[in-house]
Amino acid sequence: ITSDEPAQPLPIPERLQPDRVTDEALYYTVRTERGKHRFFDEGVNTETLGYNGDLLGPMIELPAGKTVYINTINQLDEPTSFHWHGLVIPGEEDGGPHHSIEPGEQTQVRLDIDQQPGTLWFHPHPMGATAEQVYLGLAGLLYVTDQAETELPNEYGVDDIPLIVQDRLFTDDGQLDYDRQMNVDGTVGDTLIVNGAINTTFDVTTNMLRVRLVNGSNARNLDFSLSNGKAFTQIATDGGLLDKPVSLQTLTLTPSERAEILIDFSDLSIGDDLALQADGIPFTTFTVRDEVEQDGEWSDAFDGTSAPNESSVADRRLTLFGMGNMVSIDGKQFDPDRIDINVQQGSTEVWEIYNREDMMGRMTHPFHVHGVQFRILERDGNPPPDNERGWKDTVAVAPGEKVKIEMTFRETGTFMYHCHILEHEENGMMGQLKVN
Ligand code: C2O
Ligand code: CU
Repeated sequence: ITSDEPAQPLPIPERLQPDRVTDEALYYTVRTERGKHRFFDEGVNTETLGYNGDLLGPMIELPAGKTVYINTINQLDEPTSFHWHGLVIPGEEDGGPHHSIEPGEQTQVRLDIDQQPGTLWFHPHPMGATAEQVYLGLAGLLYVTDQAETELPNEYGVDDIPLIVQDRLFTDDGQLDYDRQMNVDGTVGDTLIVNGAINTTFDVTTNMLRVRLVNGSNARNLDFSLSNGKAFTQIATDGGLLDKPVSLQTLTLTPSERAEILIDFSDLSIGDDLALQADGIPFTTFTVRDEVEQDGEWSDAFDGTSAPNESSVADRRLTLFGMGNMVSIDGKQFDPDRIDINVQQGSTEVWEIYNREDMMGRMTHPFHVHGVQFRILERDGNPPPDNERGWKDTVAVAPGEKVKIEMTFRETGTFMYHCHILEHEENGMMGQLKVN
């Protein structure tokens, strides 16, 4: 992969302004649009899709304890849906494949925000077109926020920045031709884009920078590291803050996994550069512009959740299998009219996810469950690494591996669980869970 374009300032997705705010509720409007986006210096316009713009979408803030109404409008010429990935909400509001909106139509969703602060995202999820619509640009940020975490860097776009990292393949005339690039195991591009731009720069101070990483790729796993080989600190997983910060030199995120990290620039001087890399390729270069006293003891400042340290017997075992078109969960491919798993509202279950490996299947599958945040109890009988002991909604399951997760089903309705390689999901590596 490359990020070979003249560097440009990192675009920061705009923070969506509510149409209206009351004591209990916020009202937003999000619309899908067709657009044209300038990825390249030479002035080529690439045809894209976006939310409230030509590519990606705004950052939507969801304050814990509030009700958020979102008016979702589909201005595409094909059906789409609005899926709030990682939100713990009823199946009716979840925006999965049963909730497509026809072209020109709109609906309002009601989201009662009742979970820990974290970096979530939203994307389309219509039957048969999820992968293509995401590939062409539909993806946006959801920040669940609350007052309790203000000791961490939290000035949006200044010392708290999102990086939505995606790989794309462009045709010779600079277009995203999904059909030509599609592969049954997932589109894998040769160009990294971050917040919709190739090769970006961002000015920092010698203080701490909080970076919210989103692997928004359809299929590519990304290994993140710093260009000087130094460690950074992971402070959050998909669904919220970790109990303890974890120092890491590399961090792997599979499609749809998120992490928040802190990068410490206090060893650098004005004018120094440090780049964040994916798979060894720098994609965002930070330049120190100002010396600032390090803020107080941020590491004591947050109150994450500790992992359950006891494992338990699995209530269910799910088997992921296959590659290409032959992907399945428990030997079945997705059927929108079939409920695969029934659970009682309020129950806590342990699932063991097994990635059955053979000549037909040797891939890591990022396994995602809608409508819950879960904890990882075990990887192949061992406790999960420290940086996976927080809230998760997507977990990488390596070939041959068995991963145990534990979750409580608080909300009723029909929810999907699937591989988040979007082409696998499209090829049927998805099942339905009904919470009664
Ligand atoms: Cu982010 Cu069912 O997906
Ligand atoms: Cu998969």
